[in-house]
Amino acid sequence: MSATISERGPVVAAPSGFLWGAATAAHQTEGGNVNTGHWVAEYAPGTAVPEPSGDACDSFHRYGQDIALLAESGLGCYRFSIEWARIEPEPGVISRAALAHYRAMIDACLPAGVQPIVTLHHFTFPRWWQQRGGWQAPDAVDRFTRYVEAAVGILADVAWVITINEPNMLVIQLGAITDTTLGMNAVGVDEQRAQAIAAAHHAAVDVVRASTRARVGWSVANQAFQAVPGWEAQRDAWRYWREDFFLEQARGDDFIGVQAYLRTLIGPTEDSLGYGPQSWPDGTRFTLTGWEYYPAALGDAVRHTHRLTGLPILVTENGIATADDAERIEYTRAALAGLAAAMADGADVRGYLHWSLLDNYEWGSFAPTFGLVAVDRDSFVRTAKPSLFWLGDLARRGVLPV
Ligand code: BGC
Repeated sequence: MSATISERGPVVAAPSGFLWGAATAAHQTEGGNVNTGHWVAEYAPGTAVPEPSGDACDSFHRYGQDIALLAESGLGCYRFSIEWARIEPEPGVISRAALAHYRAMIDACLPAGVQPIVTLHHFTFPRWWQQRGGWQAPDAVDRFTRYVEAAVGILADVAWVITINEPNMLVIQLGAITDTTLGMNAVGVDEQRAQAIAAAHHAAVDVVRASTRARVGWSVANQAFQAVPGWEAQRDAWRYWREDFFLEQARGDDFIGVQAYLRTLIGPTEDSLGYGPQSWPDGTRFTLTGWEYYPAALGDAVRHTHRLTGLPILVTENGIATADDAERIEYTRAALAGLAAAMADGADVRGYLHWSLLDNYEWGSFAPTFGLVAVDRDSFVRTAKPSLFWLGDLARRGVLPV
């Protein structure tokens, strides 16, 4: 059921052709994604993962409902990921049925007036890939490239392709500051892994360009790093392998995806490096993920990305985990105002995709709800929240709050 909730505050016209949409990822929504390393970890005896993904939102079967809700709201783009573990269940074995499934998702978008934006890799790997050493395996880049070669067969008419989601998170989550393993650089990041992921991206860009007319790029987790006064040099050193290296690797791409939720303040610490992320003072407002409520992150991230890359920008994720949908609107309004200001100052931003379309599996828990649409955990019934209609109305009117 569609409703209209109109923004009553001041707005400015978005550039013509500005894309409006929402995003999801396969493992977080499909359910039954049993062939991934993440699934293995979720169900391992004594696992540290608090909650398994299970049936998730059952979007593997209900993607038609997801697309219909998005289209009815007025949003025009759906970003979703295709699952390598389904497409290549064993090394070199390509599932034509899995490819046909994702092609059917693309085909469901087009007649609904929804532009599909396809992510080739969103955090999850086939279990066989992880058993073979992941990015550490000598043929890791070749293996990834062969998967992309199989996937592009269904992407000929897709206009936007994202190779790898948040490559910097793939590195950071695995490289702890205290780890002295060979390969860790001075700021505790596995530089070799970063280089392998960058090589995989460049190879994937070539494959996508050879077989499709899509604009191709990758989406970086922008962390809006800020320095405690006097700690700017340390902030820059900390940021390089956690963000800027990955922005630099986008040079030559058609666009860069910006994903922003929060900021990270860098200053003095008592650990071995002597500096790092600061904790927040009492009274700081937090979201359900325990992140600082900081909607200005989006504008900050876009400005930094624009300065460093000069590329066209697609906001591929931005949102808030909250049980209070009015707070979601409040956060998004402020984030979009920051975006509009960055655009007025010269950033070439082509669109905004909200994270997420659905309340989904937030990597270990269903509790942090990011969705514009609620999903009943037992029946999978979808219920649109006011924020969906509010964002859809901005899209229909082609305006950004200021
Ligand atoms: C990821 C999503 C995740 C979201 C909120 C991004 O880091 O791409 O998979 O759900 O942020 O944490």
